[in-house]
Amino acid sequence: MIELTQDELKQHFSAPVFRPITEVADQLGLECYVVGGYVRDLFLERPSKDIDVVVVGSGIRMAEALAERLGRGAHVAVFKNFGTAQLKWRGTEVEFVGARKESYTHDSRKPIVEDGTLEDDQNRRDFTINALAVCLNQARLGELVDPFGGLEDLKEKTIRTPLDPDVTFSDDPLRMMRAIRFATQLKFYIDDDTFASLTRMAGRIAIISRERIADELNKIILSPQPSRGLVDLERSGLLELIFPELAALRGVETKCGRAHKDNFYHTLEVVDNVARTSSDLWLRWAALLHDIGKPATKRWEPRVGWTFHNHNYVGEKMVPAIFRKMKLPMNEKMKYVQKLVGLHMRPIVIADEEVTDSAVRRLLFEAGDDIDDLMTLCEADITSKNSERKRRFLANFQLVRQKLKDLEERDRIRNFQPPVDGEEIMRTFHLPPCAQVGQLKSAIKDAILDGVIPNDHDAAYAYMMQKAKEMGISEI
Ligand code: CTP
Repeated sequence: MIELTQDELKQHFSAPVFRPITEVADQLGLECYVVGGYVRDLFLERPSKDIDVVVVGSGIRMAEALAERLGRGAHVAVFKNFGTAQLKWRGTEVEFVGARKESYTHDSRKPIVEDGTLEDDQNRRDFTINALAVCLNQARLGELVDPFGGLEDLKEKTIRTPLDPDVTFSDDPLRMMRAIRFATQLKFYIDDDTFASLTRMAGRIAIISRERIADELNKIILSPQPSRGLVDLERSGLLELIFPELAALRGVETKCGRAHKDNFYHTLEVVDNVARTSSDLWLRWAALLHDIGKPATKRWEPRVGWTFHNHNYVGEKMVPAIFRKMKLPMNEKMKYVQKLVGLHMRPIVIADEEVTDSAVRRLLFEAGDDIDDLMTLCEADITSKNSERKRRFLANFQLVRQKLKDLEERDRIRNFQPPVDGEEIMRTFHLPPCAQVGQLKSAIKDAILDGVIPNDHDAAYAYMMQKAKEMGISEI
């Protein structure tokens, strides 16, 4: 964070975007303050586009007067029900709101709103670092109003509520997710009293919509080190409520002196590993869900120890229900996550054995264009503490990657469609759609993937004739 003197703040807020606000506010005799995220991000040197302005009086009147003053090019949208107005001007969005005093009823996020002072308005905000205000009126231009020590908390990297946290969280339980989200995005710490309140108030999350919860969760997942937030969600008890399937991965069981790894912490490591190489939200979701089928498939087998047979396939089947419940998109993004969860063991199995051409060709055929993401996920999944084992796996992955490249160049397997299709088989042998057509089709596909024949039409046709003869099918 940077330190800014009042003169520097004054200079910043004299910029052309703010100038007309200052002039109109002074003309109307209204106190105006820039507040919230914009001020926080200014000190944190984070880019911030949207500007929130609190007006002691009517935000709508202020926005309308300003729009008139700016003339053509300024566009104002008024939201009477909320007492807010949004002004768009030269690519900047400024939201005007009248200073408010709010109180909430127990079972709803909808507040009862009354006009208030700046202090009332700051009191009802979520965190001290989001309650900083800077005056825009000329006489006090650049003056920082910081009643809760928000600046100190920015320096100390602390997330703390301005009021008793039980009150702040109860007023709007989404703030519990926001506390963890800001801590994760900014690499801040949640103050002890604030965190203790999270654990007490977690149950209130029930009144928040799934969409808003998913929005915050996605922001946590998109942070540089998502595990920070996921650990806080687990420790506070929120995870159990919003995402029980993930919380179920937590814990270690020991039998006959043999323990399995804690799949929750393993998953977090994998998500962080992926986050280091990719900022793709859905690849990070695939990492989060890759072992989601483990609790359901866990068995103790006396001769082998703990096993999780087919956890990838069980996990793959769980993905749609999880997406639906969490209001995540039920489209090709979900299908992509499903595919990666289902296939995530394949490269590991290949790398553990001899890396054969045919195994790699089959992998390429099934993964198609998602092969690179699948390899990224699988490399991230090697979290073994045994450095020799880790080194061996990663070296074998290199080999798999190299083979993928060679085979792709030679055989064009990615997105490959067998060169002789069902239509041609039916035409050649005058067959109706039947089991034999399917058998011939998969025999051709297998022969190409196993490297028995090259991936071209003539070879596939000849192979089909030979197979058909073996099966007793003749051309008429
Ligand atoms: N706010 C709040 N409680 C909420 C949401 C918002 O008190 N549940 C207040 C905070 O003062 C916040 C401001 O409204 O700074 C603007 O909210 P928003 O645009 O959601 O967040 P930002 O702080 O701007 O941060 P981001 O854009 O990263 O969400």
